[in-house]
Amino acid sequence: MSFDYVLQTTGLTKEFRGFTAVSDVNFKVKRGDIHALIGPNGAGKTTFFNLLTKFLLPTKGAIQFNDVDITQERPAQTARRGLVRSFQISATFPHLTVQENVRVALQRKLGTAFHFWRSGSSLGVLNDRAMELLTEVGLEHLADWTTADLAYGQKRALELATTLALEPELMLLDEPTQGMGHEDVASVTALIKQVSKGRSILMVEHNMSVVAGLCDAISVLQRGRVIAEGSYDEVSRNPLVIEAYMGDASAQLGGGSHG
Ligand SMILES: Nc1ncnc2c1ncn2[C@@H]1O[C@H](COP(=O)(O)OP(=O)(O)O)[C@@H](O)[C@H]1O
Ligand SMILES: [Mg+2]
Repeated sequence: MSFDYVLQTTGLTKEFRGFTAVSDVNFKVKRGDIHALIGPNGAGKTTFFNLLTKFLLPTKGAIQFNDVDITQERPAQTARRGLVRSFQISATFPHLTVQENVRVALQRKLGTAFHFWRSGSSLGVLNDRAMELLTEVGLEHLADWTTADLAYGQKRALELATTLALEPELMLLDEPTQGMGHEDVASVTALIKQVSKGRSILMVEHNMSVVAGLCDAISVLQRGRVIAEGSYDEVSRNPLVIEAYMGDASAQLGGGSHG
């Protein structure tokens, strides 16, 4: 594989008791791209993500990250390499402050080096880094707030900051605008654009105006298989894709916005 690609899967397959949720997927993410994975409900998008993060082991096939075969790695090893998923359920602690949440994530990243960071002077370094990350996602003015008091979109921004603390090289986002109103969709879209600088992003996204405005490349999954790949224009004109989306009210092509 060329170093132009941060991630590659070869023949990736996941079966659940005879049901094939992900079927022989050959897939690449170009370094620096925001890449969308779209497809009707049940297509296998979340299962594919779970394979990449090693939450699930594949039945067949291989995953390469930066030319290294990570198929048999443990989840923590893969995360340490920089393949990190965001927008996970309960990614933040509601009773901690915003800044404390980022500090916890930074300490988690440091892992065994934790004792070094317990010394008084290094706590200051940790706080500085936490503030940098909060500034990156536009939450620096809310650093002392209790996390539970944040608005929904602000919680999503904080989750993003805690993910950035893990220094992701490829960040996976599963439906980052799900359940959001127009304003939050716009701010989270801008945020994703902002944090994409210097890294690669793979995102599952149902809102086609978000995909059209944000993503460099799109892969379409249907019944576990990739049925189309390309730019938004290419993919949205593809007859196979149009057919796959017919009758699925949760996701329509053509720039319609919902949520
Ligand atoms: N742990 C599991 N056991 C059995 N079937 C599963 C499991 N996880 C997902 N599936 C099935 O695999 C298919 C793909 O699911 P999923 O990856 O969640 O799709 P998507 O995220 O595209 O909506 C669905 O038919 C789902 O019911
Ligand atoms: Mg899903």
